[in-house]
Amino acid sequence: MADYPDFYYPNEDVIKNAHIKDWDSFNSEAMNDPEGFWEKHARELHWFEDWNCVLDESNKPFYKWFKNGKTNIAYNCLDVHMQTYRRNKLALVWEGENGDVLTHSYYSLHRETTKFANILRSLGVKKGDRVTIYMGRIPELMLAMLACAKIGAIHSVVYGGFSVEALHERIEDSESRVLITADGAFQRGKIVPLKEIVDEALKRAATVEHVLVVKRTGQDVYMESGRDMWYHELAALPIAMQNGSHTEIMDSEDPLFILYTSGTTGKPKAILHTHGGYMVGTYTTLKYVFDIKDEDRYWCAADPGWITGHSYIVYGPLLNGATSFMYEGAPNYPYPNRWWQMIEKYGINILYTAPTAIRGLMRFGEAWVNRHDLSSLRLLGSVGEPINPEAWRWYYNVVGKGHCPIMDTWWQTETGNFMITPLPCMPLKPGSGTKPFPGIEMDILDEDGNPVAANQEGYLVIKKPWPAMLRTIYKDPDRLVSQYFSRFPGYYMTGDSARRDEDGYYWIIGRVDDVIKVSGYRLGTAEIESALGSHRDVAESAAIGIPHEIKGNVIYAYVILNNGVVASDSLAEQLKAHVGYEVGPIAKPEKIEFVDSLPKTRSGKIMRRVLKAKAQGLDPGNLSTLED
Ligand code: PRX
Repeated sequence: MADYPDFYYPNEDVIKNAHIKDWDSFNSEAMNDPEGFWEKHARELHWFEDWNCVLDESNKPFYKWFKNGKTNIAYNCLDVHMQTYRRNKLALVWEGENGDVLTHSYYSLHRETTKFANILRSLGVKKGDRVTIYMGRIPELMLAMLACAKIGAIHSVVYGGFSVEALHERIEDSESRVLITADGAFQRGKIVPLKEIVDEALKRAATVEHVLVVKRTGQDVYMESGRDMWYHELAALPIAMQNGSHTEIMDSEDPLFILYTSGTTGKPKAILHTHGGYMVGTYTTLKYVFDIKDEDRYWCAADPGWITGHSYIVYGPLLNGATSFMYEGAPNYPYPNRWWQMIEKYGINILYTAPTAIRGLMRFGEAWVNRHDLSSLRLLGSVGEPINPEAWRWYYNVVGKGHCPIMDTWWQTETGNFMITPLPCMPLKPGSGTKPFPGIEMDILDEDGNPVAANQEGYLVIKKPWPAMLRTIYKDPDRLVSQYFSRFPGYYMTGDSARRDEDGYYWIIGRVDDVIKVSGYRLGTAEIESALGSHRDVAESAAIGIPHEIKGNVIYAYVILNNGVVASDSLAEQLKAHVGYEVGPIAKPEKIEFVDSLPKTRSGKIMRRVLKAKAQGLDPGNLSTLED
């Protein structure tokens, strides 16, 4: 490795007690018989009825895992623990941004989920119905998801940082009849008016009949009679507990959730995951990568509204019977030591976060970290975007004090679970996720589909199906084929470019499509352009991502105004605010530049490469396909 010569060797204390001490033999076992490997782990979970085929490949790429097996992921997260010592173990420790603290044992999480499930049933929610969930990081978000899973409803969580149009689009596409939200969410000492955003979105979406509102912030909110109900009022009624705690028996392939994510073109797509395979995948990967032990306190600082939260705040930890910590607010509120203070206070052993958060906290300096005793930490994790070696070393040395291995996990909404990741026993290189998780076969290909040589950049692909893979795009199965399985037939195309070094370590370079990662959040250029286009003064626009020191990337938008509209700084500010209102604060362009035309190919496609070069003052390269 010419650029990064250093290997970081695993800490003996960490591997002494690790589930896996020798990656090579664990990997060979999995690679020699991947189906047997996943089947063995599936057997560690509860199934009401056994499967009769581990992997059904008869209708590629619509793979089926654990065919005809019957289970329910919520049963495995909660009910199974009721018969063991875990009944009284803490499942969740939660701290609000304002200092509120709440804990749930497995017993109380089970009981509260049952109540929530009964309330949903009393509203007529049935197996297969979609329920939209739009909340801040509060325990009720977890309960709502588990309650849906328990009764076989399909949850569609919309990140609480999204706004009116993003929410509307997702409600409408999922045809949800029930929406679960909160009056507001605390964020950096202010209140995000979730209920107001819901009211606006519902003026545009007609499917929703019932809105359940959890009281979190306590300010007055509008409640529409006949439609809106306070959750705590329903939870106090006899229906919540008197209906028993029946868990729906689900087929392994029955949908568990849809989660919208941005792709190359058009509207966000609803990625669909199932009860069986997703359960086996999240359970197994979390167990080995973060080496989960009963006595651990594990903190995934992501938001449950994204896949990281689904797999590794809600399902993975509960399947493993772990104790999770969840925090509502901003990392640096009220001071930049908030996270370090909570790690000390709760004795956190494992911290899993995104490079953008590390870089954001790094800029406040190490004195804030050093005020606190972080000696409980054993493992660290990173996700969402490439971690630059500088941030990696700071995380490793300042936060982990040089003895906590960093699990840099590469994966996607679509993959459901970690795909390229170290295990704690592996030597690490800052900035590399090391190798594919055992049982996962990946490669890097050139334009013609041939594997590239060591250190050459190419398209990152997954060669074989895996249990937690997406099953389809809800209501649009053709798009599964066209988006993921067409470019290199038989292989799943990730949309990322990568290279592999001479030690077989993978290095992710970035997206090769029109997806922009802002602070690790995934946004599509199409969403931003469509929000800009909905402003009365905008004729056309093009959004691109350009590198940013802390956020990884920021959005830069080129805008052509309608005839007669005069460009001004205040109009640029208005347009930014408009995108913030329609899509959400994370989608706000950092800069808006007014132009008279956009570089396009003869077929009318915007040449983002040229815009990117212009925004960064670089050479635009070959312009022979440029129309004008
Ligand atoms: O580009 C890769 C980047 O995030 C994309 C997936 O985004 P999303 O579906 O929102 O899921 C994010 C959390 C799993 C990938 O295509 N990405 C994710 N993890 C890493 C990463 N890039 C580099 N290193 C990572 N560890």
